[in-house]
Amino acid sequence: MKIGILTGGGDCPGLNAVIRAVVKTARTSYNMEVLGFNDGYHGLITNQSRRLGRRDISGILPRGGTILGTSNRDNPFKYTEVIDGQKITHDVSGRVMDNIEKNGIGAMIIVGGDGTLSIANQFYKMGVPLVGIPKTIDNDISATGVTFGFDTALVTATEAIDKIHTTGESHHRVMIVEVMGRTAGWIALHSGLAGGAHIILIPEIPFSYDAIVNKIVKRSGYGKHFSIIVVAEGAKPKGGNVVVKRMVEDASEPCRLGGIGNVIGDIIEKRTNIETRVTTLGHIQRGGTPSAFDRILSTRFGVEAVKLVNEKNFGKMVSLRTPDIVPVSLEDAVGQIKYVPADCGLLETARLMDISLGE
Ligand code: F6P
Repeated sequence: MKIGILTGGGDCPGLNAVIRAVVKTARTSYNMEVLGFNDGYHGLITNQSRRLGRRDISGILPRGGTILGTSNRDNPFKYTEVIDGQKITHDVSGRVMDNIEKNGIGAMIIVGGDGTLSIANQFYKMGVPLVGIPKTIDNDISATGVTFGFDTALVTATEAIDKIHTTGESHHRVMIVEVMGRTAGWIALHSGLAGGAHIILIPEIPFSYDAIVNKIVKRSGYGKHFSIIVVAEGAKPKGGNVVVKRMVEDASEPCRLGGIGNVIGDIIEKRTNIETRVTTLGHIQRGGTPSAFDRILSTRFGVEAVKLVNEKNFGKMVSLRTPDIVPVSLEDAVGQIKYVPADCGLLETARLMDISLGE
């Protein structure tokens, strides 16, 4: 049996740990070969792949990124290319099917977020035997307790908030840290709690400027002349909209968020007269060596995916149901973003700790 593997969507720490686990398990425990496709679905469309052996995976466990490359633009069902000088967008899924057959692939392992896994589900319905592995720093895939990459992003964001804390305190400033997460507030909520933020703003709870200003003024009133705000890139004011940074043509999710931190910063400075600074953490959250937790989760996901392939249990996504890794139906797993629910215990923790959620 030959397995094909690709990593799609935005990268995150732990992708290489998954590739390593898949290759090791496939080769040593099941005598299977592994073919790695380059740059997500782009490699499947253009038939660019390489055999992955022991040398390829040597030393990659602690490395961020993905040795296969990735792309969040190449959707085979809506693929844009230039033909005879004309830019056209069309369905090239037939090319993918041909390339899978040409390479003698018995099963695919697709590692990605919701966009990549939704495409995988379409291919599964067309008859491709495959298994999905959920990844994303955003932690917004519903059918798994957590995705790998999230923990490392939290560690990075928390370290940054700690550093911002000391300079903010010294200068008596309001410090705003904008974190990623798309339309979900997991990174902001967790890193805000871990970093001791005084105000945490998440997309699931539209905020009021009055609530933010009141909290800052109240802190000043008892001698705390600085405040730390952690804001998710997808946060928005009550009755207002998210701040869109850019639209990425050809991407399955074209909208890129970013900039809400600066908008909030300007308003706070005007209303409180307290100097305010904004730091946008950006792609730093996607890089670096995976945390121990992410290395273990990635390894377990990779091993379980190969086990499912061996059992011919296709159309599944591996998922963490603590303490177990279990298969769930890909169809049920995709297309449902996991938001911070209103009854999330961490929200209660924050409120009881007198952290403002901008309500
Ligand atoms: O989904 C991961 C993520 O990092 C989001 O948190 C962020 O909104 C987006 O990807 C950024 O995408 P890009 O790498 O295209 O700028």
